[in-house]
Amino acid sequence: MLPRRRFLQALAAAMLSSLGLLVGLPLGYRRLRARYSAPYRTVRGDKLVYLPMPRLRGVVSLEEALANRRSIREYTDEPITIEELAQLLWAAQGVSETRHGFRTSPSAGATYPLEVYVVAAPKGVLTGDGFLEPGSYRYLPHSHALVQVRKGDDLVERLYHAALEQEWVREAPVNLIFAAVYERTTRRYGARGIRYVHIEVGHAGQNVYLQAAALGLATVAIGAFHDDEVRKVVGTPEEENPLYIMPVARPRWRYQLNPNDLARYIEGHRS
Ligand SMILES: Cc1cc2nc3c(=O)[nH]c(=O)nc-3n(C[C@H](O)[C@H](O)[C@H](O)COP(=O)(O)O)c2cc1C
Repeated sequence: MLPRRRFLQALAAAMLSSLGLLVGLPLGYRRLRARYSAPYRTVRGDKLVYLPMPRLRGVVSLEEALANRRSIREYTDEPITIEELAQLLWAAQGVSETRHGFRTSPSAGATYPLEVYVVAAPKGVLTGDGFLEPGSYRYLPHSHALVQVRKGDDLVERLYHAALEQEWVREAPVNLIFAAVYERTTRRYGARGIRYVHIEVGHAGQNVYLQAAALGLATVAIGAFHDDEVRKVVGTPEEENPLYIMPVARPRWRYQLNPNDLARYIEGHRS
Protein backbone atom coordinates (compact mmCIF):
# COMPACT_ATOMS: atom_id res chain seq x y z
CA MET A 1 0.00 0.00 0.00
CA LEU A 2 1.21 3.46 -0.84
CA PRO A 3 1.38 5.95 2.02
CA ARG A 4 -1.40 8.52 1.68
CA ARG A 5 0.92 11.39 0.55
CA ARG A 6 2.57 9.34 -2.17
CA PHE A 7 -0.82 8.11 -3.26
CA LEU A 8 -2.09 11.70 -3.62
CA GLN A 9 1.06 12.70 -5.50
CA ALA A 10 0.68 9.75 -7.85
CA LEU A 11 -2.98 10.60 -8.40
CA ALA A 12 -2.15 14.25 -9.18
CA ALA A 13 0.61 13.18 -11.61
CA ALA A 14 -1.75 10.76 -13.35
CA MET A 15 -4.44 13.46 -13.67
CA LEU A 16 -1.94 15.98 -15.05
CA SER A 17 -0.53 13.54 -17.54
CA SER A 18 -3.97 12.50 -18.79
CA LEU A 19 -4.83 16.18 -19.15
CA GLY A 20 -1.60 16.60 -21.11
CA LEU A 21 -2.53 13.63 -23.26
CA LEU A 22 -6.03 14.97 -23.85
CA VAL A 23 -4.73 18.36 -24.91
CA GLY A 24 -1.41 17.33 -26.44
CA LEU A 25 -2.41 14.28 -28.43
CA PRO A 26 -4.99 15.91 -30.65
CA LEU A 27 -2.62 18.84 -31.27
CA GLY A 28 0.27 16.53 -32.10
CA TYR A 29 -2.02 14.32 -34.14
CA ARG A 30 -3.37 17.28 -36.10
CA ARG A 31 0.18 18.40 -36.87
CA LEU A 32 1.12 14.88 -38.00
CA ARG A 33 -1.97 14.58 -40.16
CA ALA A 34 -1.29 17.92 -41.77
CA ARG A 35 2.25 16.84 -42.57
CA TYR A 36 1.95 13.23 -43.56
CA SER A 37 -1.47 11.95 -44.26
CA ALA A 38 -3.11 14.65 -46.33
CA PRO A 39 -3.12 12.31 -49.34
CA TYR A 40 -2.21 14.77 -52.07
CA ARG A 41 -0.71 18.13 -52.40
CA THR A 42 0.24 19.80 -55.61
CA VAL A 43 3.73 21.23 -55.68
CA ARG A 44 4.84 22.91 -58.92
CA GLY A 45 2.18 20.99 -60.85
CA ASP A 46 3.19 17.59 -59.39
CA LYS A 47 0.74 15.57 -57.36
CA LEU A 48 2.74 14.60 -54.27
CA VAL A 49 2.01 12.24 -51.41
CA TYR A 50 4.17 12.83 -48.35
CA LEU A 51 4.61 9.46 -46.68
CA PRO A 52 4.54 8.74 -42.95
CA MET A 53 8.04 8.76 -41.45
CA PRO A 54 9.79 5.39 -41.55
CA ARG A 55 9.86 3.43 -38.31
CA LEU A 56 13.40 2.67 -37.15
CA ARG A 57 12.37 -0.01 -34.65
CA GLY A 58 10.34 -3.10 -35.16
CA VAL A 59 9.17 -6.11 -33.21
CA VAL A 60 10.60 -8.83 -35.48
CA SER A 61 14.33 -9.57 -35.27
CA LEU A 62 16.50 -9.76 -38.38
CA GLU A 63 16.95 -13.50 -37.74
CA GLU A 64 13.18 -14.02 -37.60
CA ALA A 65 12.69 -12.05 -40.81
CA LEU A 66 15.38 -14.12 -42.53
CA ALA A 67 13.95 -17.40 -41.24
CA ASN A 68 10.37 -16.57 -42.20
CA ARG A 69 10.95 -14.83 -45.52
CA ARG A 70 9.35 -16.76 -48.38
CA SER A 71 8.08 -15.95 -51.88
CA ILE A 72 4.32 -15.91 -51.31
CA ARG A 73 1.89 -15.75 -54.21
CA GLU A 74 -1.50 -16.26 -52.49
CA TYR A 75 -3.08 -13.11 -51.15
CA THR A 76 -6.21 -11.90 -49.39
CA ASP A 77 -8.11 -9.02 -51.00
CA GLU A 78 -7.42 -6.63 -48.09
CA PRO A 79 -5.58 -3.34 -48.68
CA ILE A 80 -2.25 -2.51 -47.12
CA THR A 81 -1.80 0.75 -45.22
CA ILE A 82 0.11 3.83 -46.30
CA GLU A 83 2.40 3.28 -43.27
CA GLU A 84 3.26 -0.22 -44.52
CA LEU A 85 3.85 1.06 -48.05
CA ALA A 86 6.05 3.87 -46.71
CA GLN A 87 8.08 1.39 -44.69
CA LEU A 88 8.60 -0.92 -47.69
CA LEU A 89 9.72 1.97 -49.89
CA TRP A 90 12.11 3.18 -47.24
CA ALA A 91 13.52 -0.34 -46.94
CA ALA A 92 13.90 -0.48 -50.72
CA GLN A 93 15.68 2.84 -51.35
CA GLY A 94 15.03 5.22 -48.46
CA VAL A 95 17.62 7.51 -46.92
CA SER A 96 19.48 6.13 -43.88
CA GLU A 97 22.33 8.67 -43.63
CA THR A 98 21.71 12.37 -43.57
CA ARG A 99 25.08 13.88 -44.51
CA HIS A 100 25.17 12.60 -48.08
CA GLY A 101 21.71 11.08 -48.37
CA PHE A 102 23.05 7.51 -48.55
CA ARG A 103 20.36 4.84 -48.65
CA THR A 104 19.21 1.62 -47.03
CA SER A 105 20.58 -0.38 -50.02
CA PRO A 106 24.28 -0.17 -50.87
CA SER A 107 25.19 1.33 -54.25
CA ALA A 108 28.45 1.15 -56.23
CA GLY A 109 30.13 4.53 -55.74
CA ALA A 110 26.82 5.82 -54.36
CA THR A 111 25.66 6.27 -57.98
CA TYR A 112 22.12 5.11 -57.13
CA PRO A 113 20.92 3.81 -60.50
CA LEU A 114 17.61 2.48 -59.14
CA GLU A 115 14.20 4.13 -59.27
CA VAL A 116 11.28 2.60 -57.41
CA TYR A 117 7.68 2.87 -58.61
CA VAL A 118 4.40 1.86 -57.04
CA VAL A 119 1.37 0.67 -58.96
CA ALA A 120 -1.60 0.98 -56.62
CA ALA A 121 -4.82 -0.92 -57.29
CA PRO A 122 -8.23 0.68 -56.62
CA LYS A 123 -8.73 0.60 -52.83
CA GLY A 124 -5.30 -0.96 -52.54
CA VAL A 125 -3.68 1.42 -50.04
CA LEU A 126 -5.50 2.80 -47.00
CA THR A 127 -4.57 6.39 -46.21
CA GLY A 128 -5.62 8.52 -43.23
CA ASP A 129 -8.83 9.53 -45.00
CA GLY A 130 -9.59 7.02 -47.72
CA PHE A 131 -7.49 5.24 -50.30
CA LEU A 132 -4.53 6.20 -52.40
CA GLU A 133 -5.74 7.15 -55.86
CA PRO A 134 -5.17 4.15 -58.14
CA GLY A 135 -2.28 4.72 -60.51
CA SER A 136 1.48 4.68 -60.70
CA TYR A 137 3.84 6.69 -58.53
CA ARG A 138 7.57 7.29 -58.37
CA TYR A 139 9.27 7.15 -54.97
CA LEU A 140 11.35 10.20 -54.05
CA PRO A 141 13.85 8.93 -51.45
CA HIS A 142 15.06 12.32 -50.19
CA SER A 143 11.63 13.70 -49.37
CA HIS A 144 10.21 10.23 -48.63
CA ALA A 145 7.30 11.02 -50.90
CA LEU A 146 5.47 9.67 -53.91
CA VAL A 147 4.87 11.67 -57.05
CA GLN A 148 2.04 10.52 -59.24
CA VAL A 149 3.04 9.44 -62.73
CA ARG A 150 -0.18 7.94 -64.12
CA LYS A 151 -3.77 7.69 -62.95
CA GLY A 152 -5.93 4.70 -63.72
CA ASP A 153 -7.98 1.85 -62.32
CA ASP A 154 -6.67 -0.50 -65.00
CA LEU A 155 -2.92 -0.21 -64.44
CA VAL A 156 -2.71 -3.33 -62.27
CA GLU A 157 -4.59 -5.36 -64.88
CA ARG A 158 -2.23 -4.07 -67.56
CA LEU A 159 0.80 -4.82 -65.39
CA TYR A 160 -0.51 -8.37 -64.96
CA HIS A 161 -0.57 -8.81 -68.75
CA ALA A 162 2.89 -7.27 -69.07
CA ALA A 163 4.09 -9.79 -66.46
CA LEU A 164 3.01 -12.82 -68.49
CA GLU A 165 -0.32 -13.13 -66.65
CA GLN A 166 1.20 -14.02 -63.30
CA GLU A 167 -1.93 -13.95 -61.09
CA TRP A 168 -0.12 -12.60 -58.03
CA VAL A 169 0.50 -9.30 -59.85
CA ARG A 170 -3.24 -8.83 -60.43
CA GLU A 171 -4.25 -9.90 -56.92
CA ALA A 172 -1.89 -7.62 -55.01
CA PRO A 173 -3.13 -4.23 -53.74
CA VAL A 174 0.26 -2.78 -54.71
CA ASN A 175 3.17 -3.73 -56.92
CA LEU A 176 6.62 -2.19 -56.50
CA ILE A 177 8.63 -1.84 -59.69
CA PHE A 178 12.40 -1.39 -59.68
CA ALA A 179 13.81 0.30 -62.75
CA ALA A 180 17.45 1.17 -63.43
CA VAL A 181 19.23 3.97 -65.24
CA TYR A 182 22.42 2.08 -66.20
CA GLU A 183 24.12 5.28 -67.33
CA ARG A 184 24.37 6.60 -63.76
CA THR A 185 26.70 3.70 -62.91
CA THR A 186 28.37 2.94 -66.28
CA ARG A 187 29.40 6.62 -66.55
CA ARG A 188 31.79 5.89 -63.70
CA TYR A 189 32.54 2.17 -64.04
CA GLY A 190 32.14 1.48 -67.76
CA ALA A 191 30.63 -1.87 -68.79
CA ARG A 192 31.22 -3.30 -65.32
CA GLY A 193 28.59 -0.87 -64.08
CA ILE A 194 25.92 -3.09 -65.64
CA ARG A 195 26.95 -5.91 -63.32
CA TYR A 196 26.83 -3.50 -60.37
CA VAL A 197 23.29 -2.37 -61.22
CA HIS A 198 22.07 -5.97 -61.29
CA ILE A 199 23.74 -6.69 -57.97
CA GLU A 200 22.08 -3.59 -56.51
CA VAL A 201 18.57 -4.52 -57.50
CA GLY A 202 19.15 -7.80 -55.66
CA HIS A 203 20.08 -5.87 -52.51
CA ALA A 204 17.02 -3.65 -52.77
CA GLY A 205 14.72 -6.57 -53.54
CA GLN A 206 15.99 -8.48 -50.53
CA ASN A 207 15.37 -5.43 -48.35
CA VAL A 208 11.74 -5.46 -49.52
CA TYR A 209 11.46 -9.19 -48.85
CA LEU A 210 12.80 -8.78 -45.31
CA GLN A 211 10.73 -5.71 -44.52
CA ALA A 212 7.63 -7.49 -45.82
CA ALA A 213 8.44 -10.50 -43.64
CA ALA A 214 8.89 -8.20 -40.63
CA LEU A 215 5.52 -6.55 -41.30
CA GLY A 216 3.73 -9.87 -41.83
CA LEU A 217 3.19 -9.05 -45.52
CA ALA A 218 3.73 -11.23 -48.56
CA THR A 219 5.85 -10.54 -51.61
CA VAL A 220 7.64 -12.27 -54.48
CA ALA A 221 10.40 -11.02 -56.76
CA ILE A 222 9.35 -11.19 -60.41
CA GLY A 223 11.84 -11.09 -63.24
CA ALA A 224 9.63 -12.46 -66.04
CA PHE A 225 7.87 -9.63 -67.91
CA HIS A 226 7.95 -7.60 -71.12
CA ASP A 227 10.12 -4.58 -70.41
CA ASP A 228 8.46 -2.26 -72.90
CA GLU A 229 4.98 -3.14 -71.68
CA VAL A 230 5.95 -2.51 -68.07
CA ARG A 231 7.50 0.83 -69.08
CA LYS A 232 4.27 1.86 -70.79
CA VAL A 233 2.03 0.82 -67.90
CA VAL A 234 4.12 2.48 -65.21
CA GLY A 235 5.07 5.50 -67.30
CA THR A 236 8.83 5.33 -66.84
CA PRO A 237 11.09 7.35 -69.12
CA GLU A 238 12.82 5.50 -72.03
CA GLU A 239 16.20 5.37 -70.26
CA GLU A 240 14.81 3.47 -67.27
CA ASN A 241 14.92 -0.30 -67.49
CA PRO A 242 12.49 -2.29 -65.36
CA LEU A 243 14.31 -5.10 -63.54
CA TYR A 244 11.98 -6.40 -60.85
CA ILE A 245 8.27 -6.33 -60.06
CA MET A 246 7.37 -7.09 -56.47
CA PRO A 247 3.67 -7.48 -55.62
CA VAL A 248 2.99 -6.80 -51.94
CA ALA A 249 -0.13 -8.01 -50.16
CA ARG A 250 -1.55 -9.61 -47.05
CA PRO A 251 -0.72 -13.32 -47.23
CA ARG A 252 -3.29 -16.12 -47.26
CA TRP A 253 -0.77 -18.22 -45.35
CA ARG A 254 2.34 -17.50 -43.38
CA TYR A 255 5.62 -19.32 -43.56
CA GLN A 256 7.35 -20.08 -40.28
CA LEU A 257 10.57 -22.03 -40.09
CA ASN A 258 10.52 -24.64 -37.36
CA PRO A 259 13.91 -24.65 -35.56
CA ASN A 260 13.73 -28.42 -34.97
CA ASP A 261 13.10 -29.05 -38.66
CA LEU A 262 16.08 -26.87 -39.49
CA ALA A 263 18.36 -28.68 -37.02
CA ARG A 264 17.22 -32.06 -38.40
CA TYR A 265 17.78 -30.85 -41.96
CA ILE A 266 21.30 -29.61 -41.24
CA GLU A 267 22.17 -32.79 -39.26
CA GLY A 268 20.80 -34.90 -42.11
CA HIS A 269 23.15 -33.19 -44.55
CA ARG A 270 26.24 -33.81 -42.43
CA SER A 271 28.20 -36.90 -43.36
C1 LIG B 1 15.92 -13.01 -60.35
C2 LIG B 1 14.65 -13.68 -59.89
C3 LIG B 1 13.56 -13.74 -60.74
C4 LIG B 1 12.36 -14.32 -60.29
N1 LIG B 1 11.28 -14.28 -61.12
C5 LIG B 1 10.10 -14.78 -60.68
C6 LIG B 1 8.94 -14.68 -61.50
O1 LIG B 1 8.95 -14.15 -62.59
N2 LIG B 1 7.78 -15.17 -60.99
C7 LIG B 1 7.70 -15.75 -59.76
O2 LIG B 1 6.60 -16.16 -59.37
N3 LIG B 1 8.79 -15.86 -58.96
C8 LIG B 1 9.98 -15.39 -59.39
N4 LIG B 1 11.09 -15.45 -58.58
C9 LIG B 1 10.96 -16.04 -57.21
C10 LIG B 1 11.59 -17.43 -57.15
O3 LIG B 1 10.75 -18.35 -57.82
C11 LIG B 1 11.75 -17.84 -55.66
O4 LIG B 1 12.67 -16.97 -55.06
C12 LIG B 1 12.25 -19.28 -55.54
O5 LIG B 1 11.24 -20.19 -55.93
C13 LIG B 1 12.69 -19.64 -54.11
O6 LIG B 1 11.63 -19.44 -53.20
P1 LIG B 1 11.78 -18.45 -51.95
O7 LIG B 1 11.94 -17.06 -52.50
O8 LIG B 1 10.53 -18.63 -51.17
O9 LIG B 1 12.99 -18.85 -51.19
C14 LIG B 1 12.28 -14.90 -59.00
C15 LIG B 1 13.40 -14.83 -58.16
C16 LIG B 1 14.56 -14.22 -58.58
C17 LIG B 1 15.73 -14.12 -57.62
